[in-house]
Amino acid sequence: MDSKVLLPLFAQRFGCEGAACYAAPGRINLIGEHTDYNGGFVLPGAVGQCLTAWIRPNGSDQVNLYAADLGMECVFAIDDPQGPRSVHFRYVYGVVREMTARGVKVGGFDAVYGGDVPLGAGMSSSAALECCFAFALNDLFRGNLDGMELARVGQMTEHRYVGTMCGIMDQFVSLHGRAGCLVRLDCRSGEYEYFPWKPEGYSLVVVNSCVRHELVGSPYNDRRNSCERVAARAGVETLRDCSWEQLETLKTELSDEDYSRARYVLGEEERVLAVCEALKRGDYEEVGRQMYLTHEGLSKDYEVSCEELDFLVEEARRCGVAGSRIMGGGFGGCTINLVRNELRDAFVSEVRKNYRERFGVECKMIPVVIGDGARRVQ
Ligand code: GLA
Repeated sequence: MDSKVLLPLFAQRFGCEGAACYAAPGRINLIGEHTDYNGGFVLPGAVGQCLTAWIRPNGSDQVNLYAADLGMECVFAIDDPQGPRSVHFRYVYGVVREMTARGVKVGGFDAVYGGDVPLGAGMSSSAALECCFAFALNDLFRGNLDGMELARVGQMTEHRYVGTMCGIMDQFVSLHGRAGCLVRLDCRSGEYEYFPWKPEGYSLVVVNSCVRHELVGSPYNDRRNSCERVAARAGVETLRDCSWEQLETLKTELSDEDYSRARYVLGEEERVLAVCEALKRGDYEEVGRQMYLTHEGLSKDYEVSCEELDFLVEEARRCGVAGSRIMGGGFGGCTINLVRNELRDAFVSEVRKNYRERFGVECKMIPVVIGDGARRVQ
């Protein structure tokens, strides 16, 4: 739902005077998966699909929300210590609490929102929701928090109010995305660099397996715990600072599982940097090769794939696609594919047909345009 569809809904509920419109996008990630909470590098980009909200301070201490896509409403007081039960509304409640904790004088407000970031697809619909509200409340209540702090508001909302111990990638890129660019973020230092994304002769095809990816209560947190155990054993803060030699020395003291998880993360660190070098040379075949390696690691060592995602990647390989892998946290959701333009149509129709035959469900192609980060919509 875009701003034009949402405005009449806002007017119906709250009257139309004085509301402002904000949007924050979902994301793709070219490479660098499960590296963010290990202090490593990621290479995501914001997409055109956004969460859009009309918001207006109401002078009370009450928040009135209407989630138009879900047809659900929610009311809570700004200083309510518990907040709503529904996970969906806890994202907004958490943002309010985290902003308040950072000294922003958030008052009551009315909001109607909706979006087109596919839910449960691994494209960060929840980060889009958090970042849209964080950005908007910062603007409307003169918060003065910078983009990185707003990203932390979103991340801490996940940790404290939802229970997903995520890294910073999704919220960071939802706020700092730039049209036509991927952004390489060093999650340890917070430094970042934009990489123009104009793959001559190639396009990105995102395929949604329609296996619903859900990080809340998923083994996502277990993966993070494994990494933290290995880092603690190695005497480093995060795996970013663990060398291959250190990992090999520790091998006999670690469970096989923890060892494999850490091996994946160390490899992924190197792959992000290799992809950045390849991008500078315009070598997209190399970018694609690294993507396949990431998928192998995510599937065999990190174990966050599933039959459907492995099938989609194998189909891509069979069709001669340059690179393919799970995108995002895993456990369902999408694959991201780097496809030579002349192969694109054949790949899309092959994969559609074969997926339907194999699993009896349709996979969905999600269009990708690399867009801007959170903003006020004029
Ligand atoms: C989810 C999390 C991110 C990141 C990815 C995996 O999207 O929210 O912080 O860990 O999974 O790369």
